[in-house]
Amino acid sequence: MANLSTRVLGKVFKNPIIPAAGPNVGSGTLIAKAAEGGAGGLLAKTISTRAAQVPHPNMVRFGKDNLLNTELWSELPPQEWFEREYDIAIAAARKHQLPLIASIGYDADDLVELGPKLEQKGIELIEFSIHYVDAQRLTSTASSLRNAVSIPIIAKLSPHAGDLGEIARLLDPYVDGFACINSFGPTLLIDIEKIQSPLGSQYGYGWISGPAVKPLALRSVFEVARETEKPVIGVGGVTRGEDVIEFFMAGASLVGVCTAAVLNGPGIYGKIASETDRWLDAHGYQDIAEIKGLYLEKYRNGQRVVTEIVQTARVDETRCKACSLCEKVCQYDALHAPSKQIAHVDVNACVSCGLCVSVCPFGALALRPR
Ligand SMILES: Cc1cc2nc3c(=O)[nH]c(=O)nc-3n(C[C@H](O)[C@H](O)[C@H](O)COP(=O)(O)O)c2cc1C
Repeated sequence: MANLSTRVLGKVFKNPIIPAAGPNVGSGTLIAKAAEGGAGGLLAKTISTRAAQVPHPNMVRFGKDNLLNTELWSELPPQEWFEREYDIAIAAARKHQLPLIASIGYDADDLVELGPKLEQKGIELIEFSIHYVDAQRLTSTASSLRNAVSIPIIAKLSPHAGDLGEIARLLDPYVDGFACINSFGPTLLIDIEKIQSPLGSQYGYGWISGPAVKPLALRSVFEVARETEKPVIGVGGVTRGEDVIEFFMAGASLVGVCTAAVLNGPGIYGKIASETDRWLDAHGYQDIAEIKGLYLEKYRNGQRVVTEIVQTARVDETRCKACSLCEKVCQYDALHAPSKQIAHVDVNACVSCGLCVSVCPFGALALRPR
């Protein structure tokens, strides 16, 4: 078994998979369930100085594993969190020996009001979201919270805010870590039978999350990690152990899960942790720390871009199952795989685009020197 436990901002996380803010951690009881489900650390849904007035309906599944949502922040008034929900969450964190992160938003006044109350309550880490913060006010908002509390603060970045690498560079002097990304949007789905959106927001818009945003989240983590030495929590589309490995390779120190927990229940945290462990074991790593930043360091300064065609697809005939999928997707008429026949590559037609390699279900195609 590989070591999954990791120390971030002075706290020991039992494994690197924690909840990301959402309905999955919308109450103390749900946070306790995340602990029982095997999360390596805990996080509470974002609260603000007033309860959110949320449109209804506000969540819809998109594809198998994604969501669109128009939730804002917690619909519970902050006093309910301070009088009841945080107590339940803190008790669960103590029982399971897990760090607990509280999430708050949004403007400087909100943060300055809520931050010190959290610190007094015994919360040891704060995440604040920039989701609804004016671009001109990002640094002043972060610096207000910085001056109001002495515990570590993490900036949760939203992809619609712009260049997250640049934002991380601007916020770096005021914060102790970053989380990225929040859900992306606004986006739209239309029920064409009813000619209506499944969501109750003004124009029916929602914010997308789940595997559809994972490539955006990975790029964001890579760009933020290039700008800072501080820990980055990778969030966006994590559903399985391999996703955790990808985020760590891009430079993440922890990984947050929201959509997969909403759709599959709190047992998903522990399941993803076991899968991460299995991957590390199978690849001969003893500690998750060994894979951290492997891609970040390799690609930090970019790679040489090859525009000449120096490679071609090659078929491993022992693996090809004659499914002819590669022929269907080849836009250059370079792959010939008539029904029930092993695929064959026309080397002179192949432009080394790489698509067939990613499409073959049997790993029978690879790019090799021409
Ligand atoms: C229904 C829903 C509610 C969310 N609420 C919050 C929130 O209150 N605060 C926040 O920072 N992020 C919120 N998020 C964003 C998630 O924490 C996460 O950043 C994003 O969904 C991407 O991760 P995922 O693909 O694992 O869901 C919410 C996401 C969803 C789907």
